[in-house]
Amino acid sequence: MELILDHFENPRNYGSLESADVMQEGGNPGCGDIIQVFLKVSSVGVVNEISFSGEGCMLSQAGASIVLENLKGKTIDELEGISADIVLKALGKKLVSTRPNCARLGFNTMKKAVKEWQKLQALSEIQDSKNG
Ligand code: FES
Repeated sequence: MELILDHFENPRNYGSLESADVMQEGGNPGCGDIIQVFLKVSSVGVVNEISFSGEGCMLSQAGASIVLENLKGKTIDELEGISADIVLKALGKKLVSTRPNCARLGFNTMKKAVKEWQKLQALSEIQDSKNG
């Protein structure tokens, strides 16, 4: 609980990233809480910057801070391969099983951001091949 409180009060990597390549919004329809995840990705697919912002319950916001904290420097492919087990490991089975939607909001939004980046990348490759 101390960890949750610490991350809620001092969220890591918090705030919008002006130079982001992708901004992805995710929400929990049950309560209306939202999170935005920002990724800045290098030309070889390394996530150089990751941040989030949002409004919601303590677990959703602290959970996003905790789960996203160690993802900087990984590749898009690595993020695509990460399973939801990292949420379990970071937040503990009890919390995740009692409030799964809150606990996974940041993680799920990060996954959507990865998909969005891949989509944008594929589109730009198609565009390049047309122009080339
Ligand atoms: Fe809305 Fe937790 S109550 S995400």
